[in-house]
Amino acid sequence: MRFLSRRLVMPNDLNFAGSLFGGRILEWIDEEAYIFASCQLDQKSLVTKHIGEITFEASAFQGDVVEFGLETKNVGRTSLTVTCVVRNKGTKQNICVADDIVFVHIDGESRVPQPHGKTKEQLDELRIEPPSYS
Ligand SMILES: CC(C)(COP(=O)(O)OP(=O)(O)OC[C@H]1O[C@@H](n2cnc3c(N)ncnc32)[C@H](O)[C@@H]1OP(=O)(O)O)[C@@H](O)C(=O)NCCC(=O)NCCS
Repeated sequence: MRFLSRRLVMPNDLNFAGSLFGGRILEWIDEEAYIFASCQLDQKSLVTKHIGEITFEASAFQGDVVEFGLETKNVGRTSLTVTCVVRNKGTKQNICVADDIVFVHIDGESRVPQPHGKTKEQLDELRIEPPSYS
């Protein structure tokens, strides 16, 4: 799994208990997973169809840096299923795992599902490891 993106937990990301608000994490996961899926498929017209079970395993706090790991779980005819792990960059402790995020490629006008034209094998072949950084 590649950890491709980071965010800083800011004051307006907190809940009343002073830790990272779960709704904010979901928003971030949806955005990060969309960017990943869109890059994988080279398609912009994707909508979130399904987000499976998510368990929040640990809290994060103001000033923490969280990072997002993403990988392709399944490639369908019109869909792509993505796994996203959010972890604390400092401690490497998982904050939450969403391993069943399904995006569907739709026609921009009719908004009905359209084949995205990619296979798992093609995506595996195109996989380029980014430079590692700490
Ligand atoms: C996305 C949408 C066009 C799909 O319509 P649909 O009638 O479910 O389409 P289909 O039944 O043809 O399914 C399309 C794909 O989604 C998959 N899918 C459908 N329901 C699913 C579910 N509950 N869980 C996981 N995958 C699902 C299908 O397996 C299919 O994948 P495949 O073609 O790779 O095999 C429609 O549901 C929609 O517009 N939803 C709202 C999307 C949205 O607004 N999201 C939030 C903002 S981005």
